[in-house]
Amino acid sequence: MSGALQVKNLHVRFRRPEGVIHAVNGVSFEVASGEWLGILGESGSGKSVTMLALLGLQSESAFVAQGEALFGDRDLLKLSERKLQSVRGREIGMIFQSLSAGLNPYIRIGDQVMEPMLQHALCRKPEARRRALALLSEVGLADPETQFRRYPFELSGGMRQRVMTAVALACQPQLLIADEPTTALDTTIAIQVLRMLRDICEKRQMTTVMVTHDLGVATNVCDRIIVMYGGMVMETADVDAFVARAAHPYTRGLKEALVDHRDRGRPLRPIPGAAETLWEAPRGCPFAPRCSLADERCDREIPNLIALGEGHEAACHRLEEGMSDVG
Ligand SMILES: Nc1ncnc2c1ncn2[C@@H]1O[C@H](COP(=O)(O)OP(=O)(O)OP(=O)(O)O)[C@@H](O)[C@H]1O
Ligand code: SF4
Ligand SMILES: [Mg+2]
Repeated sequence: MSGALQVKNLHVRFRRPEGVIHAVNGVSFEVASGEWLGILGESGSGKSVTMLALLGLQSESAFVAQGEALFGDRDLLKLSERKLQSVRGREIGMIFQSLSAGLNPYIRIGDQVMEPMLQHALCRKPEARRRALALLSEVGLADPETQFRRYPFELSGGMRQRVMTAVALACQPQLLIADEPTTALDTTIAIQVLRMLRDICEKRQMTTVMVTHDLGVATNVCDRIIVMYGGMVMETADVDAFVARAAHPYTRGLKEALVDHRDRGRPLRPIPGAAETLWEAPRGCPFAPRCSLADERCDREIPNLIALGEGHEAACHRLEEGMSDVG
């Protein structure tokens, strides 16, 4: 098994006419071979910027100020664009945030699934066609011959998502990076599509990093979850520890805000406030402006990740109070 990834102290910034945005501020994480890692956080927490930077796909105004991303014996952040092109789609499969970014509306489904195999010269067209048909069937599309000739607009959202999965898996990558792969789908269909994806990844012994802002999706399909806020890692835990013992005030806020049908009638409890654009490097905890436990230390000192159990860490100065005060 392969596909492990180790990200160390990643910092990504954007140059803007108004100043510099500090979008990712020292993110470190590892994903072990064969593992499903979920990266969870609200909008603007730096999830996509992190993933795009690893693949060298960040926008022109973005730059990696510091960090390493070890994939096998290579640091992805140090590869030339030509070398990265040979890794993207071939060794690392990608599914992007919006459906429109993933499929070309003017190109037939079959051609889009064959394209990465032909681009990376894995095989000739007749073999690519055979593999594409097998992939369409593997991702759960009935009558692949007919789907092969269709355009994206002729398919439902769930079917398009399955096609995007087939494109991402076409070259049999070792690592899959999926950024909000099911964001356009309701949670039930999303979980169906992701379980299908998980089965395929397990069969192929692939490693997966999935970005999501949907806590229900993350706890249903991932082995381990990393919670991000303000471009930093707030908490990391195996899914069981995450469900039973989430410790960080931000993670607890995300769980409290979740609508649960068993709590019908309970008033919604969203986290007050919203994430702010970071025009300076954080000097303290980025969650402090929204945290009910924040004190003066939180504003002036960045909390380090503290071990709470095997594979469970959280970055907060007031973990003990948080755990007794909330929930
Ligand atoms: N193209 C850009 N130009 C300038 N700043 C950007 C750009 N893209 C992202 N940012 C900054 O980086 C921060 C993190 O953005 P990112 O796209 O990683 O958020 P996210 O966690 O993926 O959120 P979402 O759930 O909405 O996709 C944003 O809040 C913004 O400040
Ligand atoms: S470090 Fe302070 S502000 Fe940050 S989550 Fe903990 S208590 Fe809240
Ligand atoms: Mg995003």
